[in-house]
Amino acid sequence: MSDILVHTEAGVCTLTFNRPDKKNSITAAMYGALADGLQAAQDDAAVRCVVIQGNETIFSAGNDIADFLNNPPAGADSPVFRFLRGIAQFPKPLIAAVCGPAVGVGTTMLFHCDLVYAGDNAAFSMPFVNLGLCPEAASSLLVPQMLGHHRAAEALLLGEPFMAEAALEVGLVNRVLPPMEAAGYAQTVARKLAAKPMSALVETKRLMKKNQTQQVLAVMAEEGASFGRMLGEPAAKEAFGAFMERRKPDFSKL
Ligand code: COA
Repeated sequence: MSDILVHTEAGVCTLTFNRPDKKNSITAAMYGALADGLQAAQDDAAVRCVVIQGNETIFSAGNDIADFLNNPPAGADSPVFRFLRGIAQFPKPLIAAVCGPAVGVGTTMLFHCDLVYAGDNAAFSMPFVNLGLCPEAASSLLVPQMLGHHRAAEALLLGEPFMAEAALEVGLVNRVLPPMEAAGYAQTVARKLAAKPMSALVETKRLMKKNQTQQVLAVMAEEGASFGRMLGEPAAKEAFGAFMERRKPDFSKL
C-alpha cells in the first residue's frame, strides 16, 4: 500500500500519511506524492477542500532522516520544495487533523493550513537547531509572526516541543479533541466548507493570503538554500549519525 493515501469523497480530498512503522516520516517519494495530490486536488473542480492527516497516534516525524541523507533535495524542483510551494499557494481550503508527534515539517506545514484540529496527544516540535539545521517551510517568518519572538525562540532555538493546549493558546490549532475524534471532526468541517460557494471560498482565501505569498516563497527559497548547505555540514552529520546510532549527539566541538 502507498505511503500517502489519497481519497476523495463528497468534495473532500483526504491525504493520509500511511507509514506508521516509521512514524510517518516523509521520504522524497512521499513529498512527490503529496505535491501531486495537492496539484490534482487544485485542478479537480470536484474537490472543494483538502484534509491532511496521520492516524490517532502519529501525525509525522518529519523528514525521513536516512532518505534525506542519501537523497538530499537537489534544487527548486525537488519533491520537498514542490510540496512546500504547493502547500503555501494552495488556493482551496486546507485542513489538518493532527494527533501524536508532529516533528519538523510535520509542524511547519500546519502554518500553511487554514484550519487545524488536534488530538489532545498532539506534540508539536521544530528541532532544526538540535539537528544542526535551520527552519524550513517559511517557518522562520511564520512562527515568530504567530507566536511572537520569545515563544518562537523557545520553539525554534531551543527546539522545545509544545502540546496541543499550548498550540491552541497561540492560535496554531483551532480546537483540541480526543484523538479518536480529531479526524472525524476535520471531515465534518471539510464537508461544511465543501457545501459553500467555491468561488467565494477561493477568493476569500486569496485575499487573506495575497499580501504575504511572495514573501513566504522568498523566505522558503532562502531557508531552502541554507538548509541544503547545512545538511552537508558537520553539525547535521553528527545529529543524524547520532539519531541512526541511537545515541546523544556531541556538538561540543561544533
Ligand atoms: N526518519 C526516519 N526514521 C524515523 C524517523 C525519521 N524522522 N522518526 C522515526 N523513525 C523511525 C525510527 O528509526 C524507528 O525505526 P525502527 O523501528 O526501524 O528502528 C521507528 O521510526 C520508530 O521510531 P521511534 O523513535 O522508536 O518511535 P517513538 O515513538 O519512540 O518516537 C518520535 C517517535 C517521532 C518522537 C521519534 O521517532 C523522533 O523524534 N524521530 C525523529 C524526528 C526528527 O528529528 N525529525 C526531523 C527530521 S528533519
